[in-house]
Formats: sequence, C-alpha cells, structure tokens
Amino acid sequence: MTAGKVKKAVFPVAGLGTRFLPATKAVPKEMMTVVDKPVIQYVVEEAIEAGIEHFVFVTGRNKGVIEDYFDIQYELEATLKARNKKTELNVLSSILPKAGSTSFTRQQEPLGLGHAVWCARDIVGHEPFALLLPDMIMKSEVSCLKGMVDLYEVSGGNVIAVEECAPELAHRYGIVAPGEKIGEGFRITGMVEKPPQGTQPSNFFINGRYILQPEIFEILSTQESGAGNEIQLTDGMLKLLKQQNFTAYHYRGETYDTGAKDGFIMANVAFALDRPDIRGLVEADLKALISALK
Ligand code: G1P
Repeated sequence: MTAGKVKKAVFPVAGLGTRFLPATKAVPKEMMTVVDKPVIQYVVEEAIEAGIEHFVFVTGRNKGVIEDYFDIQYELEATLKARNKKTELNVLSSILPKAGSTSFTRQQEPLGLGHAVWCARDIVGHEPFALLLPDMIMKSEVSCLKGMVDLYEVSGGNVIAVEECAPELAHRYGIVAPGEKIGEGFRITGMVEKPPQGTQPSNFFINGRYILQPEIFEILSTQESGAGNEIQLTDGMLKLLKQQNFTAYHYRGETYDTGAKDGFIMANVAFALDRPDIRGLVEADLKALISALK
C-alpha cells in the first residue's frame, strides 16, 4: 500500500447527461452553470482546497469544451484588455490551472464508473489519488475532500465520504456497512452498489468523494460488470477491502446532486444566497415567489 500525500485527483466527466436533454445535446453537463460558474469549477476548487496539484479528467466525445475551459482564451482576453475590464480578467486568471497541471484522457465507451476510473491508471501511476464525481457539489466550512485528506493522514488506506440518507433512497447509491469509530468517521466493513429496497446494510451512502490506493486499478482491470450491467467502482472497492483498510469520512455539510433537476436548481438557489453581490435580490424574489404559491 502506498502512503504519502494525495496530489492527483480524477474527475470522471464522460457521462452523457441524458437527464438534462436537450441542454446536454451540445453542452456537457459538467459545464452547466451554478450561478456563474460551471459545475466542474466547484469540484476543482474543492480539490485545490484539499491540496491537489494535478487534475485528471476522464472525458468522452463532445466534451472538448471542458479542455478549452481550462486553457487560455486569447481572443476573449485581448478584448477584455483592450476594454480595460480588470475584474473580468482577474476572474479568468484566478481559474486558470498551472501549466502542465491538467491531463485529459478519454473513456471511449460508457461502461461504468469503475471503467472510467480505470481509464486514468497510466496518468495516476502508483500513488494514492482522490476521485471526485462532478455531479455532486458541496457547501461546507471545511470542504469534504479537505476533511477526508485530514482523516487520511491518520487512517491511511482508502477513505470514502459518506452521508446519511432516508432508508427509501438507499437503493439509488453505493451503501457502506459501518464498523468501529475513527475520528470523524468509522471503519468500513462492507459495501454494496444500489442495494434492492430494504436490503441496505446501513443508511450511509457514498456521496461521490474518494481517496483510493493505486491497487484499485489492478482490480478494475478485470472489467467485471455488476449492478446495472456496468463495471462498478463499488464492486472493485469491495474486493480491495479484503486487502486494505477503508475508512468512512462522515461528511456533515450540504451536498447538491446537480445531475438531478431538483438538485441542480437547489444548488443555484443555495449558492446564489451565499453570494453577497446578489443575495439581497435573490432572497427578495424567492420570498415573493414562495408567498405567491397556492
Ligand atoms: C455513483 C456511485 C455510487 C455513489 C453515487 C454518488 O453512482 O456508483 O456508489 O453513491 O455515484 O452520486 P451513480 O450516481 O453514477 O449511479
């Protein structure tokens, strides 16, 4: 098992985003905006806060705009400079990753999350890495991944962030079985992807943030499919659990599933209410809208 600092993060961004058609016909779902930033920007910022230095995107066809987003846009910058738009130029420079700190690889076929992660194996190499599912964006004082990195420094091994869900929603997620308590979390003794209603080992669901050891790649290379006939990461992790420790980080902040319509809208509302420049207007409009509801 490899100890040491988690420097690389993997972002699987190959999904088709069918739940957001027609918008996602031409715009990748990760580029949909929450207030004024694309969803992917929130997740990258969370990784930066946790000390991540290299960003690995597992993309697919029609996702080229994600790569463009993390590059310089000369024409736009030249125009902004000519117009002396300093604020806008600062926004652009603040989100530009360091040269050489991003990598892009393609998942050629949508064979599942486990397969998408496996596609990053050569870029990650033999070191622990973070995995962030961009659908889930989070709002908390200490970011979810930062809390996990702090726990990882004590626990080592693999760390998965979990939250509690209503029992009737457990079949939508990966669910873990809890063992002894450790700091802000507990040891994981088992896990299952999308358990049939009523069979879940707990109500702790995997919320889309992971710190994994590179041995997971070897296990995923067997390409066995599980729930939904997809190559499931949870199945791979369950196998790795026989060789290595898995610790759950019990995240207690807010999470928005921007892959679902209600979650996406709530993320927009919540992040807008957090923004001093627009909070007043949004709050007043929301209150009026709600009081007019029949
Ligand atoms: C994936 C994971 C699942 C996790 C979920 C969080 O499922 O396989 O374990 O709970 O993300 O969003 P998906 O949402 O891709 O079906």
